[in-house]
Amino acid sequence: MKSTQLWIFFSLFRIAILQSNTDVQSLLSQLFTTNSYNTLIRPNTNQSAPKEIDISFNLYGITDVDEIEQKLTTTGWLVITWKDDLLTWTPASYNGLNKLYLPQDNVWKPDVSLQNGFSELEELGSKFIQVYVQSSGYIMWRPFQVFETKCNLDSKYFPFDEHKCHIIFVSWSHSSEEIVLTQTSNGIELSDELESHGEWKITSSSATSEFKSLVSSVKFTIVIKRKPLYMIMNIILPIILLALLELFTFKIPADTGERLGYTITVWLSFAVFLTIVSDSLPKVRNQFQLYQHILLYNC
Ligand SMILES: *[C@@H]1O[C@H](CO)[C@@H](O)[C@H](O)[C@H]1NC(C)=O
Repeated sequence: MKSTQLWIFFSLFRIAILQSNTDVQSLLSQLFTTNSYNTLIRPNTNQSAPKEIDISFNLYGITDVDEIEQKLTTTGWLVITWKDDLLTWTPASYNGLNKLYLPQDNVWKPDVSLQNGFSELEELGSKFIQVYVQSSGYIMWRPFQVFETKCNLDSKYFPFDEHKCHIIFVSWSHSSEEIVLTQTSNGIELSDELESHGEWKITSSSATSEFKSLVSSVKFTIVIKRKPLYMIMNIILPIILLALLELFTFKIPADTGERLGYTITVWLSFAVFLTIVSDSLPKVRNQFQLYQHILLYNC
């Protein structure tokens, strides 16, 4: 036990002491000056073969579900990996140096973008993000993003509604003859620190890679369900109670003359209550607003 620990300590020490800044510098000048690495070249030695790009999606949280605009906003990051045939080296020639971090604009990267995005197309990631490069050419790029996607939100069964939303990524300019998107994870990876949303719960997720008429895409699907308790406690329960109150009209003796006043009071409480409530309902199918109108104009 002791000896293995000692060995690990020494091997770490050895690597640490042997790699110097000059190793990194000579590697960088080998790659970028001698080999003149060009970010415009699709990094395949065989340019007739497509480049395989693997995408997985880590969800950090649901930011917004907008029924009016039919928009889902999620926050998360993509893990995009591929093999760059032109960024390889022999670690032994650089004292065991086997990895590098390079700014994302210094390497070729696929033009992955949202297919069903809500706003205009944007480049993923940002200048300060660095990609991880291994000596074998394996590259990992992790752009963090707020994704705004179109989603068909039908609140017919409000507040017990459930929605299925897709987040689709494609290589925007290339056909599947040049770039093939794949997905090895079996769904959206929910981050350990997933921020729970007050109103929505993620019930399931899945991922599939699709291939349609020379367009290769990866589709992440997320199923969200509204947490109904808030709506039940604040809307449905008070309405039932008011309706029950209305029934007690018949308990009031007819000859006291209080029946009419009582009924009108309860109806007016309905109207006032629904005015307050209608602000917190999804606006697309606001049936309560309709009822409220009927109530107000019929009383
Ligand atoms: C290049 O890729 C194409 C398509 O996959 C394949 O048909 C061809 O044999 C490859 N060429 C070489 C030299 O490997």
